[in-house]
Amino acid sequence: MTKNPLFRTFILLVLAYLFYTYGIGFLSKPIPSSLVTQYMVITLGVVFLYAASSDDMWNEFKRPIYETLIALTPLHKTVRSVALVVLPLFAGYKTYQMVSPKTEAPPPFRTVHPANPDSIQFNGKTIDMITQRNPLRADHEKYAEHLAVGKKVYYEKCFFCHGDTWEGDGHFARGYVPRPAKFTGDETLAILSESYVFWRIAKGGPGLPREATPWNSAMPAWEGRLTENEIWSVIMYLYDAIGKEPRSQTSAAEGGH
Ligand code: HEC
Repeated sequence: MTKNPLFRTFILLVLAYLFYTYGIGFLSKPIPSSLVTQYMVITLGVVFLYAASSDDMWNEFKRPIYETLIALTPLHKTVRSVALVVLPLFAGYKTYQMVSPKTEAPPPFRTVHPANPDSIQFNGKTIDMITQRNPLRADHEKYAEHLAVGKKVYYEKCFFCHGDTWEGDGHFARGYVPRPAKFTGDETLAILSESYVFWRIAKGGPGLPREATPWNSAMPAWEGRLTENEIWSVIMYLYDAIGKEPRSQTSAAEGGH
């Protein structure tokens, strides 16, 4: 029996399967199951080619299958009966599993502006979302300087996604779902407080709360890449550029989002 090509093929396939699922993961990183399926199909093809390479081997290869389906010994009959019941049942079960509707709860809809946390930690400093204002606004003397810094930040870091004209249509914008926010109009900056915008820029997509998922925001977290002042500057620049006022802090505190 151990000399039979069919039996050997079977052993080889089992070994190959074990190697793809456990061996590769052990040697480097595990591979996804779809890849395991692909590798198995390729291995199967190669093994069949080999088995069919000579008439003798091919006949030996087919013999057990042929006997199981045709021969009239009691053993073959039993094997045949069991196989003819079990295989269709197995195929039916797999198909059922694939097409039966899943009863998982649907993903919650994302609120467009998820509620902000009460406070955030920015570089180890606590920023209160309700009382914190844009500190640069009080700095009347250097107002123009802060705007210039903000503009520089915007065209160095943000416009690829949010666009030259703040419309959310930068060069990369079409590559993302959801699209980068459009800052003009009355749906984004105009109805947000500056501390809210600070939170979104500092923490980006990774900092969105649970209710905002599943939602693959590409908005980067800028904490660690921009300083606190740079973020307040770019916020000031944006409101100046679109000609809107931020939502007042008190109403943000009353209503939240
Ligand atoms: C890689 C593309 C990308 C870059 C670069 C990027 N953003 Fe975003 N941004 C997004 C996407 C996508 C969204 C929408 C999803 C979300 O709200 O997280 C977004 C959302 C935002 C929001 C939220 C607006 C709202 O209405 O809630 C603000 C504010 C923002 N970005 C500011 C910035 C600033 C400032 C910069 C530069 C420092 C920047 N973004 C750079 C992709 C980007």
